[in-house]
Amino acid sequence: MKTSPIIALDFDSAKQAFKFLKAFDGGINVKVGMQLYYKEGPAIVAQLKENGYDVFLDLKLHDIPNTVKSAMEVLAELGADLVNVHGAGGKLMMEAALEGLDKGTPAGLRRPGIVGVTQLTSTEELQVREEQLIGVSLEESVLQYARLSKSAGLDGVVCSVHEATAIEKTCGKEFFKVTPGIRLAEGGAHDQKRIATPGEARLAGSTHIVVGRAVTGATDPRAAYELITSQWEG
Ligand code: C5P
Repeated sequence: MKTSPIIALDFDSAKQAFKFLKAFDGGINVKVGMQLYYKEGPAIVAQLKENGYDVFLDLKLHDIPNTVKSAMEVLAELGADLVNVHGAGGKLMMEAALEGLDKGTPAGLRRPGIVGVTQLTSTEELQVREEQLIGVSLEESVLQYARLSKSAGLDGVVCSVHEATAIEKTCGKEFFKVTPGIRLAEGGAHDQKRIATPGEARLAGSTHIVVGRAVTGATDPRAAYELITSQWEG
């Protein structure tokens, strides 16, 4: 997947997604999440690929290893560029996901990249302690998921900008740090807790940024995209 910002197409129909994309020249990175995928099904991935978009299929799989393996085999056939699983599913599940992807990737095509979700960017320290009953800090928990993802052979993780530097130190520069929770300095946080600007993401060592509402909710989405891209590129 190219390193330009990944725009989250959090729309409830293909029609709306393509209407939004009209403002762009094509060739940008997009993210298809649960809302659009559950509404439109696998066809949305093919449609976006046909129109020249690189697709991050953000379905965050989390189930027993065998089920995830079979599901990944099917997802590999769709031609997405990047997919993900929840690190909380464990190392065996992540290994199974990778196996499924390898098996399902059509001959001659490149296996989609795969990243592990660490702690969601909407999660904050208190939840880690009081809901998940995890006895270490949020950052240490994210780091553990990163180490697990790496040892399972994954290409990287989804994390917040705030953990990207520590992950780079532990897992290396090449290991993907896909970071959502990106906001322009003057934008709102919405339901995200661990947010940062595109410039902060670059300095922290993010390899990819995922941007949703800061672009899709802007009065001029194209201008917001250009601004975010220029701050990201530095
Ligand atoms: O609108 P916003 O920029 O907050 O959108 C972020 C997108 O990234 C959403 O589609 C959300 O599902 C996704 N995401 C996230 N945190 C993760 C993984 C994915 O916010 N850890």
